[in-house]
Amino acid sequence: MTTNTAAWISTKRTDLEVKPASYTPPGDLEIVVRNHAVAINPLDWILQNAGELVFSWIKYPFILGSDLSGEVAEVGKKVTRFKVGQRVLAHAVGSDPTRNSAAEGAFQHYTVVLEHMASPIPDHMSYESAAVLPLGLSTAACGLFEKDQLALRHPSVNAKPTGQTLLVWGGSTSVGSNAIQLAVAAGYEVITTASPKNFDYVRKLGASQVFDYRSSNAVKDIIKACHGKTMVGALAIGMGSIEACLDIMHESKGNKFVSMTTFPVSFQKMTKGSNLKLHFLLQLPRLVVFMLSMQIKSRLRGIRTKVIFGTSLIANEVSQVIYVDFLPTALAEGVIVAAPEPHVIGKGLEHVQAGLDMQRKGVTASKIVISL
Ligand SMILES: NC(=O)c1ccc[n+]([C@@H]2O[C@H](COP(=O)([O-])OP(=O)(O)OC[C@H]3O[C@@H](n4cnc5c(N)ncnc54)[C@H](OP(=O)(O)O)[C@@H]3O)[C@@H](O)[C@H]2O)c1
Repeated sequence: MTTNTAAWISTKRTDLEVKPASYTPPGDLEIVVRNHAVAINPLDWILQNAGELVFSWIKYPFILGSDLSGEVAEVGKKVTRFKVGQRVLAHAVGSDPTRNSAAEGAFQHYTVVLEHMASPIPDHMSYESAAVLPLGLSTAACGLFEKDQLALRHPSVNAKPTGQTLLVWGGSTSVGSNAIQLAVAAGYEVITTASPKNFDYVRKLGASQVFDYRSSNAVKDIIKACHGKTMVGALAIGMGSIEACLDIMHESKGNKFVSMTTFPVSFQKMTKGSNLKLHFLLQLPRLVVFMLSMQIKSRLRGIRTKVIFGTSLIANEVSQVIYVDFLPTALAEGVIVAAPEPHVIGKGLEHVQAGLDMQRKGVTASKIVISL
């Protein structure tokens, strides 16, 4: 019998504890992955510290985690794309409301994964590198390709230029790094923002122009850079990104659409010990004012907006486009690289809690990874 171990969150707002977990076999269209590396996302500590507010459906004890890579341990009866022993990466979707399943969280040795949310990885790619991709890639893909989001042309390994331009505000984030690469692979020019120390990084990923998002001239300079271009919209990532993207879209020609990743309330100062309701109540007036002014600004300017939900692709064609049709060849041919760089902080599930705490303090163009 296969034994399993997980980094459990036993109840809301507690530290993870490494304890035994049951091994769950795959359903017909699922695989089980023996994880060799997992990566940390802001979502993990947001769920740990404010799960009952943001994903109220989660039933404790639970296993968090979205990003994993490893080898296939078992395949479901109807799975034809994978075989046991194959090296893969996958987006674990246990916290999606339609799954709500601890067996599908990444922070354990064996995770059940939907077969259409997994992709083979090339021999040259380490498990630690592969693990940086899934949630950032899925979130970027939802924003760029879903029909009710930016609805861009799909990526391919030999895309022809469209002659159109996308704005990615927050290009050095994990979501932004993937968005730049996906948009370029779909034939779009990408204008982006980052700190000056990450200008070269985002250019290497394919951005044509980059601006410092902290500069007081950023919006003005980007409006100038977009002049004469046909824009396909903006992907807004990071605090302040929505307001900036609305101002830029207002002044540019083309599709006036802002696809939004970041909730306009900061969860960073919210810790396991803090009073969640009080923290949220204190931010509520700011949130209400923000939502109202965003609605008014966007309607008056004819700009459409939509919030991304980074697991929505499991139920639409974008998962097939990314994980089944595009990613295997794109990774093998280097059209998509593992970005941001993995920062491996240790080996073993006991390092996951430290990873969550580090991620909450902030990273710059890097992804915290734990080897298993
Ligand atoms: N809606 C969804 O389903 C979904 C899914 C995943 C993530 N998200 C959200 O998307 C955002 C990005 O997540 P992530 O994992 O990609 O982040 P991340 O990799 O942890 O982001 C780190 C980067 O953020 C950049 N940054 C910091 N403040 C910024 C700002 N105000 N504007 C633009 N960039 C800023 C920094 O850039 P420099 O170092 O260059 O300064 C840093 O490199 C987060 O808000 C996250 O909660 C949403």
